[in-house]
Amino acid sequence: MTHRIAIIPGDGIGGEVIAQATRVLAAVTPSLRTPIDWVEFDWGAERWLRDGTTLPHGAFEELRDHYQAILFGALGDPRVPEQIHARDILLGLRFKLDLYINLRPVRLLDERLTPLKGKRRADIDLLVFRENTEGLYAGVGGNFKKGTADEIAINEDINTRKGVERILRAAFDAARRRRKKVCMSDKANALTFAHGLWQRAFKEVARDYPDVEATHLYVDVAAMELVRAPERFDVLVTSNMFGDILTDLGAAIVGGLGLAASGNIHPGRCSLFEPVHGSAPDIAGRGIANPIGAILSTAMMLEHLGERAAAAKIERAVERAVVEGHVTRDLGGALSTAECGGFVTDAVAQDAG
Ligand code: NAD
Ligand code: IPM
Ligand code: MN
Repeated sequence: MTHRIAIIPGDGIGGEVIAQATRVLAAVTPSLRTPIDWVEFDWGAERWLRDGTTLPHGAFEELRDHYQAILFGALGDPRVPEQIHARDILLGLRFKLDLYINLRPVRLLDERLTPLKGKRRADIDLLVFRENTEGLYAGVGGNFKKGTADEIAINEDINTRKGVERILRAAFDAARRRRKKVCMSDKANALTFAHGLWQRAFKEVARDYPDVEATHLYVDVAAMELVRAPERFDVLVTSNMFGDILTDLGAAIVGGLGLAASGNIHPGRCSLFEPVHGSAPDIAGRGIANPIGAILSTAMMLEHLGERAAAAKIERAVERAVVEGHVTRDLGGALSTAECGGFVTDAVAQDAG
């Protein structure tokens, strides 16, 4: 058996950080239990500009049936109107592959990296479970009288009982393996119908996990508490849109977007792993992007493939890079993207554990 992995570098710094992630992946292959085989796909803005392709015909079925994981850089290019390629490819894969868990760890690797005064490493260690297949992202809506003074624009917030319940259960299951605390965050005081459903489902699901402490915070307060007292959080579960916003905030309290990793997961199925950041057109092509978010996403991918030991090797190597200061300028270092990736690659190769 071999694990097949699809690599989609994408646009801007996506290609730069994925080049480092694949170096690290190559360095860790000797310690894998199951060999891997990877294929690179050129989907992104350049391809769209060349021939109009976003997600090629049949690609989704091919990934679903013949690949175990996807490693993804980022999509986003000012030349593409409304980022239609990103919507088709990234949101398309999240929805079509039914990757309902967007798992985004927020973990402080070194006290020097947090802008929060007095917070220690142990104070910032949480997992965000972002619902990833519905909510405001469902694409249900439209424009009426578009471009006129009478225009009406609608994006519906779609919340299904099944969709809400499965992300809540995933959060509770994860909490059981951690500090046994789940906080659900919504805006039920204003969005009474949609988030009323979240409230009811949360109370019911919590009954099945009497050993897990279940609490609730409205999302505005959750944002404040992430800054004021991040130590309150163990597992934080929320809707698609709120999860998007809270995880950029989460990245900021542990050193910035360049470090943040994520998995778009459906347990047991082909899942997609990517750094939380975008294509960063402001720094693309300069060789200064931080590759650590992409490298830690690769570790999450290996974990998904059952390769815990290899994932741990990568995590240890990243921790060394951060603690010893072998990092890019966004973290206060002096290394280029490739030098930082090279340090992590060597650290992985030297790690006998
Ligand atoms: P962004 O995440 O690309 O950049 C935000 C800021 O963070 C920029 O100043 C950037 O330089 C910095 N930054 C991001 N990643 C970094 C890294 N690895 N190292 C150092 N600095 C880093 O967000 P944006 O500017 O709002 O979006 C740019 C494009 O990317 C848009 O088209 C957006 O839609 C897209 N986007 C894509 C994804 C994705 O593909 N998953 C995620 C977010 C944004
Ligand atoms: C992310 C990104 C995407 C999202 C965009 C590019 C659609 O910001 O992965 O966080 O909002 O989910
Ligand atoms: Mn985002």
